[in-house]
Amino acid sequence: MCGIVGYIGKQQAAPVLLDGLAKLEYRGYDSAGMAVSDGATIRVTKARGRLKVLNELTHGGELLPGHCGIGHTRWATHGIPSDKNAHPHLNESETIAVVHNGIIENYLKLKKNLEEKGYHFSSDTDTEVVAHLLDYYYKGDPLDAIRRVMHRVEGSYALGIMFSDRPGEMYAARKDSPLIAGQASDGNLIASDVPAVLKYTRDVYFIQNEEILCLKEDSLKFFNIDGEELAKEPVTIQWDVSAAEKAGYEHFMMKEIYEQPKAVTDTLSPRIKDGKIEIEELNMTDEEIRQISKIYIVACGSAYHTGVSAKYVFEGLARIPVEVDLASEFRYRDPIFDEHTLLIVVSQSGETADTLAALREAKKQGVRVLGIVNVVGSSIAREADDVIYTWAGPEIAVATTKAYSTQLIVEYLLAMKFAQARGTVTEDTIHEMIEDLKKLPEQIEMLLDHKEKIQRFANRYIAAKDIFFIGRGLDYAISLEGSLKLKEISYIHSEAYAAGELKHGTISLIEEGTLVAAVLTQEDLYKKMISNMVEVRTRGAFILAVTVVGNTEVEKAADYVIYIPKTNKYFTNSLAVIPLQLFGYYVAVGKGCDVDKPRNLAKSVTVE
Ligand code: F6R
Repeated sequence: MCGIVGYIGKQQAAPVLLDGLAKLEYRGYDSAGMAVSDGATIRVTKARGRLKVLNELTHGGELLPGHCGIGHTRWATHGIPSDKNAHPHLNESETIAVVHNGIIENYLKLKKNLEEKGYHFSSDTDTEVVAHLLDYYYKGDPLDAIRRVMHRVEGSYALGIMFSDRPGEMYAARKDSPLIAGQASDGNLIASDVPAVLKYTRDVYFIQNEEILCLKEDSLKFFNIDGEELAKEPVTIQWDVSAAEKAGYEHFMMKEIYEQPKAVTDTLSPRIKDGKIEIEELNMTDEEIRQISKIYIVACGSAYHTGVSAKYVFEGLARIPVEVDLASEFRYRDPIFDEHTLLIVVSQSGETADTLAALREAKKQGVRVLGIVNVVGSSIAREADDVIYTWAGPEIAVATTKAYSTQLIVEYLLAMKFAQARGTVTEDTIHEMIEDLKKLPEQIEMLLDHKEKIQRFANRYIAAKDIFFIGRGLDYAISLEGSLKLKEISYIHSEAYAAGELKHGTISLIEEGTLVAAVLTQEDLYKKMISNMVEVRTRGAFILAVTVVGNTEVEKAADYVIYIPKTNKYFTNSLAVIPLQLFGYYVAVGKGCDVDKPRNLAKSVTVE
């Protein structure tokens, strides 16, 4: 997704912008640009491609002198990735520069309107209408012009704006697209995400919907859409700068795979007190928990996969019916709610547009919404009735690993807490489960210790055309994630199937040597899985099995076996996913793919 950085202060702006944009590269982008004011003129350089191109074109920023500037990395939505569609965009007299994240939904109407007034457009973007509309309304009062534009545009935006006749000022505004401001010792910054400013400051302001910000070298002023000044307090960010860097690993993804034992511990241990589950953020009485009639779990991608897994845990332990929905589907169907329905939304970024829309839709209908979110202060976190944070820390690699693992932990804890409140499990069972949960970080470490074995196996499959993942019950949920991890970063076609469903079509795709990864961690489904493995093996498949230590019988039906340590049947996902993450990673590395930034993907999907 697009990234914004703005700086006004004592330093030359362009190098600060390049540095900040580099910290946002993980969001995914196809072009980059900067606008810098030297006090009289605004100069713009922008180009399709990586930041390296922008760096070269501006000689590391030297060719854009000045102390006030805005920068942008664009992920194409309106108009193809190209130099002309890259941001910043200017008005015709080149006195106003704009960078924008989000989508102006009524841009075609506005464009037509402006064209009728004599404005000429030089890009295909929705953003350019903002530059021309600002021009139309600007009569020397930036705040007034921005407010008028905000009243005209529909959709989502985080905007960074400069006016050439206001050289000591920069402006920003937002609606439904993340934006923060940072107060540094030698100036002030705006950014679409915290890592962009961490090098300069830890004091950060979260800009809320329909707020406007005026930045000067030594001041930050916030206004609402009516132009009234707002008082705001900064939040001090606790992350270490190094937490947002690779720490010696070749890729952020591998670093984050290795951070999983810590992320799981950080998410779990503060919520286990004196052998009991205590989720402070859960503002629900036992009585309210007992009254829950149904749970919807709504999310996208991997977060959705944790929901598929959690369904088994909630239903099995707490005996509450659960429906799991893709957020992009949920928002357009007509789900049936009652006053005791609980909607759980799961999101790493807390900004995923479809998940946010589902949350809003449910809230509109009076449904209580609980968010499981990683990014503190994100839109989903702010708008949910209750939010439980996954303390995974910043996740940079586009393919999620540690956020996924921590989402599972929160879901286990919630299901156990609900089961306790509803009296559907004994205290002894909960006690045993807590002991198993506590062992997970160490067990994940043990699995990571065997990474070379998986690397050797993965190297054999870098030329594979199709790879299938099969499982039953909870193992189907693991298969979904294993398959997504592989395909999104290695570009190898892969599908996950409920193993019993194979013979209803998919089995015709199996050819001599096709790799089928079979996940069988559930004791009650073990024998059925063996039969399904035999079915595909007799049709030529090569079987990689992931099972629990002790299940040696599986070796008769598989060609290669990975064992995971013993744990509670509901927690096997947390362990089985580790070798599957490593497998996907090593296949992608072996193929020379851009593991951290797979083509066409973005870390935070803030468009529908
Ligand atoms: C896959 C992946 C995506 C996200 C999905 C939801 O590795 O990362 O499938 O899980 O885009 O994103 P969040 O969790 O930010 O809502």
